[in-house]
Amino acid sequence: MVVRDIANKSAAKIATMGELSSQSGSAVQGEILIRDVKKTFVQPSGETITALSRVNTTIRPGEFVTLIGPSGCGKSTLLRLIAGLLQPDEGTLTLDESPIQAPHFERGLVFQDPTLFPWLTVEDNVAFGLKARGIYKKKKGEVQTFLGLVGLGGFGKSYPHQLSGGMAQRASLARALINHPKVLLLDEPFGALDAFTRMNMQEELLRIWKERGTTMVMVTHDVDEAIYLSDRILVMTTRPAKIETSITVELARPRARGNPEFLQLRSRILEILDFAGKVEEPAYYL
Ligand SMILES: Nc1ncnc2c1ncn2[C@@H]1O[C@H](COP(=O)(O)OP(=O)(O)OP(=O)(O)O)[C@@H](O)[C@H]1O
Ligand SMILES: [Mg+2]
Repeated sequence: MVVRDIANKSAAKIATMGELSSQSGSAVQGEILIRDVKKTFVQPSGETITALSRVNTTIRPGEFVTLIGPSGCGKSTLLRLIAGLLQPDEGTLTLDESPIQAPHFERGLVFQDPTLFPWLTVEDNVAFGLKARGIYKKKKGEVQTFLGLVGLGGFGKSYPHQLSGGMAQRASLARALINHPKVLLLDEPFGALDAFTRMNMQEELLRIWKERGTTMVMVTHDVDEAIYLSDRILVMTTRPAKIETSITVELARPRARGNPEFLQLRSRILEILDFAGKVEEPAYYL
């Protein structure tokens, strides 16, 4: 009840899963439908664990969505399913009405640790996708464009070991973006960065998102980061995970982290995270 009172006063909307599944979207660029997705894993001990159970959501084209939830609840699993790196045991995932069956350049991936090839220069790393797709000759001018977009204009000839963590993550972003993905999937992309670099990278990501209109799905453990960036925050329960709560962040951008409404929303999410998965019928269902 306390949570309900706070919710009514704050700059956010909470929807239950029932309301979410009724928000059906039309077929436009970058729309992800996740329907009744279940994923189990067989552990080395032989035990089968259910990572995700009945995950349902619709991510709208150009939406910035973050996934937040307890460690080990299945956030990365959900991102890997959207990437096509894993297949669900049950249920369906589609992008613009096409089933997601395998990795594809239209769904870019950025992980916590920059996965650059150490033997390639920054520009060769960024050009990698173009070469793999056989379109490098036609598109090589884009390498400098995307290096510029992420603020690495002068670093094309550098090698990954010559970059700071933030610069390497910028290069990873450029490498994903050069493929003009409809969706960018980010798994704790700034988790290994210091607080100052992290805030800079958040600004960069917002700028790129506004410029390119890419649908963003990002996993984070940082509640402030989720509020600062997202149109919507999906709170997941402990394993077997479901999306319990969807919070639409209605604060105007640019958002101020010290703003009372920001802080109120942060307290509410922390409260939900504390409850998530611990009770059968959570009181925050509205
Ligand atoms: N390939 C795999 N084989 C076996 N079990 C797996 C595999 N991938 C994930 N799991 C299990 O599935 C569960 C969810 O893992 P996942 O990595 O999705 O969690 P997470 O929410 O991303 O956690 P964290 O916040 O710590 O990154 C965990 O119990 C994990 O051990
Ligand atoms: Mg993870």
